[in-house]
Amino acid sequence: MSPDDKALPVYTPPPRPPPRQQSTRFRRLLATLLLSALALSLSAYNIWTTEQDRTLAKPPLRAKEILDQCRSLELEPGPPPDFHLRKASDRFVPGTKAVLIKNATIWTGEISGYEVVKGDLLLDKGLIQAIGDVGEDIILKYQELETVDVAGSWVTPGIVDLHSHLGVLSSPSLRGSSDGNSRKGLVQPWLRSLDGLNTHDEAYQLTISGGVTTVNVLPGSANSIGGQAFTIKLRPTKERSASSMLLEPPFTLNGTEFDPSVPPRWRQMKHACGENPSRVYSDTRMDTIWALRQGYETARKIKVSQDEFCAKAQAGLWNEIGDFPEDLQWEALVDVLRGRVKVQNHCYEAVDLDGIVRLTNEFKFPLAAFHHAHETYLVPDLLKKAYGHPPAVAIFATNGRYKREAYRGSEFAARILADNGLNVVMKSDHPVLDSRYLVYEAQQAHYYGLPRNLALASVTTTPATTMGMDHRIGFIKSGYDADVVVWDSHPLALGATPKQVYIDGIPQLDDPQTLEKPPSFQSAPETPNFDKEAADAIKYEGLPPLVPSKAKSDVVIFSNVSSLFVKSSGTIKQVFGTSAFGERGVAVVKGGKLICGGASSSCQKSIQAFGQSSETIDIEGGSIAPGLLTFGSPLGLREIAGEATTSDGVVGDPLGSGLPSLVGGEGAIIRAVDGLQFSTRDALIAYRSGVTSAVVSPLSSGFLSGLGVAFSVGASHALESGAIQKPITALHVAITHASSVSVSTQIAALRRLLLGKAPGELGERAKAVVRGDLPLVVVVDSADAMASLIKLKAEVEAQTEIPIRLTFSGANEAHLIAEEIAAANIGVVLVQYRPFPSTWEKKRILPGPPLSKLTSVTTLLAANVTVGVGVEEAWNARNTRFEIGWANLDAQGDLTKADAIALGSVNLEKLLGIDEDSANNDLVVTKAGSITDFEAKVVGIVSASKDAVYLL
Ligand SMILES: *[C@@H]1O[C@H](CO)[C@@H](O)[C@H](O)[C@H]1NC(C)=O
Ligand SMILES: *[C@@H]1O[C@H](CO)[C@@H](O)[C@H](O)[C@H]1NC(C)=O
Ligand SMILES: *[C@@H]1O[C@H](CO)[C@@H](O)[C@H](O)[C@H]1NC(C)=O
Ligand SMILES: *[C@@H]1O[C@H](CO)[C@@H](O)[C@H](O)[C@H]1NC(C)=O
Repeated sequence: MSPDDKALPVYTPPPRPPPRQQSTRFRRLLATLLLSALALSLSAYNIWTTEQDRTLAKPPLRAKEILDQCRSLELEPGPPPDFHLRKASDRFVPGTKAVLIKNATIWTGEISGYEVVKGDLLLDKGLIQAIGDVGEDIILKYQELETVDVAGSWVTPGIVDLHSHLGVLSSPSLRGSSDGNSRKGLVQPWLRSLDGLNTHDEAYQLTISGGVTTVNVLPGSANSIGGQAFTIKLRPTKERSASSMLLEPPFTLNGTEFDPSVPPRWRQMKHACGENPSRVYSDTRMDTIWALRQGYETARKIKVSQDEFCAKAQAGLWNEIGDFPEDLQWEALVDVLRGRVKVQNHCYEAVDLDGIVRLTNEFKFPLAAFHHAHETYLVPDLLKKAYGHPPAVAIFATNGRYKREAYRGSEFAARILADNGLNVVMKSDHPVLDSRYLVYEAQQAHYYGLPRNLALASVTTTPATTMGMDHRIGFIKSGYDADVVVWDSHPLALGATPKQVYIDGIPQLDDPQTLEKPPSFQSAPETPNFDKEAADAIKYEGLPPLVPSKAKSDVVIFSNVSSLFVKSSGTIKQVFGTSAFGERGVAVVKGGKLICGGASSSCQKSIQAFGQSSETIDIEGGSIAPGLLTFGSPLGLREIAGEATTSDGVVGDPLGSGLPSLVGGEGAIIRAVDGLQFSTRDALIAYRSGVTSAVVSPLSSGFLSGLGVAFSVGASHALESGAIQKPITALHVAITHASSVSVSTQIAALRRLLLGKAPGELGERAKAVVRGDLPLVVVVDSADAMASLIKLKAEVEAQTEIPIRLTFSGANEAHLIAEEIAAANIGVVLVQYRPFPSTWEKKRILPGPPLSKLTSVTTLLAANVTVGVGVEEAWNARNTRFEIGWANLDAQGDLTKADAIALGSVNLEKLLGIDEDSANNDLVVTKAGSITDFEAKVVGIVSASKDAVYLL
């Protein structure tokens, strides 16, 4: 923006007849002169007479107010000029004790995120008062000072979420808690997220426990302009109101009131383009952009008439002006045109990004950020053409492919955007992702190549700057809000967990359960090189080939091996480890099978026998481990969640509309194996991330799903050898409050099935369950429903005297009755390692550190329940390795790494009906670390099912 653009209203009025055709500069000069005159003579009206001039009329009584208002229209938003002289925060809570955090390793956010200060941090009056060497003279001034020695722990600014629906899409989700999307029109700049902010969302406290202190609460994306967003701090307030949570209320909040003596505060507004607004209103992209242009044209006209009004007022043409033109519905959008609103634009695809960039240039307003923005990394130059300045880009790390707009999303987007000089923000879109784990998004972006300084900035300084709040949050800087997080490890290390979170200087965790992390976790992980993958993402427009290539030789020797894990009678055993053997080992692989693995000396024979024709790969301290299994998501039954034509579809519910009579009606049962799809992108990406096998049951929204199948994730079609590991694994049903019939009806249906009263094939399969031949997997989250199932199991077994093989899946509340589950010999698959109370039936979660010492995994394992870890969504199958790595860290030594791998492999096999004969025995080779580490990269799959080694 040129300096002139800054000073002038952004709209240039059309030519008008003289005398108004003076240059704007001249008019402004004139206005200034007149203003001075006016100030001198407001009490001497007599010098203004109608005879003196046709238009220089007697100023109205409100002249000063009008001129003030006009002048204030040109003010740039920001803090008041004396803001940085403040001695106390406007959010300071009297009675809050001053805190001295001693011996911290402080990431300040300064110097482009490179500055790290070792020393102390003094918090008082809601502000950061001093950093580094806090002298005795300062400390002595305090009568009461709480001193916390953090022994070198990492300290960062409070985490900032640029894109959240906390409070407006609150949890647990109830009919009364969906206040994110108005259905009343496409363009509604007058709506305000604050008006829907539920102060009782359970996610506030959970989110704080992840270190998040400030979030920007956006309306949803059902409208092309969904309304104004509001920035809140998450801590509870004395007043308990939504308004008291606001970080810095814009002056427009309580009407059109303004204080002309200080700059206005930044406002935030949500825009959306593409599929969501188009889908909700059955419109096309063309309609959506037209609705935006129409809205902006309305605002532009108001702005022009305001500018004309002010030009007249400033010229003293009081006779001609009438009332200040304004419209409560459009004032916020007029403010956008005045450059006083941070526009946060949900927008994914090149076509939509292009439309919005054109819009910004047509109406001359800047964009704060594109959000979701899965194709931005493909069009960086387009972003640079946006009016004013390039928008920041707010993205997920690995959540993608859930609709056409996200299909080309890439885990390398963050680093590619940064390579192009664009600002990158990681955001949660809470509750889409649980914002408690926003730092995990930054960790993943870092893993896939976003530099360390920018990865930390992406959840602190960059979002703070993008929302215009970098004068008080996002940095650790003297005079800034006292929002800081003390971490148990480097914040970019896997599983980093706050030891304490301060908001406005107030500690938020009453009784933090602190984890001891391995020393290596005190520095940022040395992440793998993904240069080629990132280049391919661009080269192939987001759809790079994902099928790994076959090794050239039949024999592959992996050298420089740090650890080797194998399956051994239903468990995972570590058979080699550098620490035990004092040296790096080797693994000799032939025809997709491990021939020899361990210390180099022990494999000399195999090396000599096959060495001639072999290929040797140095895995630099890497590891070899059994491939992981994924369960819980539709992986294998559909490609794009939002597109029905890419899906096997949803089976009919016998307790609802029923199954067609042609398939057997009441006695029908559907097999997932009949609907499998291979080589979906989520499957191939999961394969490249060490997930070699999957179990899925028919997609269902009701009670009966059908028969599950186990398949090989790397197979290219169902007829390939080894593609189907086991065509029928278990009978899958669900007991849920989301059903159209009661939970008690669902249990009654299951009772009838298990008592042998169902007809047809369904009846036969139910008998197999009762005989103990076929496992029964029940999706169930409520502990009460689980208790009913435990009783039902006992009831049936009392008649048959044969144990039923029962597994609970989902099982958010299983921890409440862990011992009863163990006593009933029932297994549990937690389809979400990190729990969230998204619905009422999963409300009673065990949150894990820092809110509770135990997790569901550790609680269930302590009771001797067999536990597996799954994922709910197909895109997340790739992250199984990190989920189990996280479980390993949270268990604080109660789980070995081998046990953690078992959570994602052999335990799942046991729970889902896969026996040793049908198990997938592929091995995963990782370079520079083991499968659960952020340092490691999957470089090969030793495929027993395909008799070959595949290299990435
Ligand atoms: C800070 O903590 C580290 C780690 O515990 C310790 O080695 C160091 O001596 C401490 N420094 C001070 C100044 O207390
Ligand atoms: C309007 O809001 C501003 C900012 O919160 C506040 O300073 C002012 O007192 C409010 N005015 C009224 C009339 O409530
Ligand atoms: C083995 O791995 C280490 C890294 O852990 C690497 O420095 C070394 O060059 C590798 N190769 C050999 C032959 O040691
Ligand atoms: C779990 O199993 C172990 C080993 O079999 C046993 O020692 C322990 O008492 C069991 N714990 C519970 C809570 O049943």
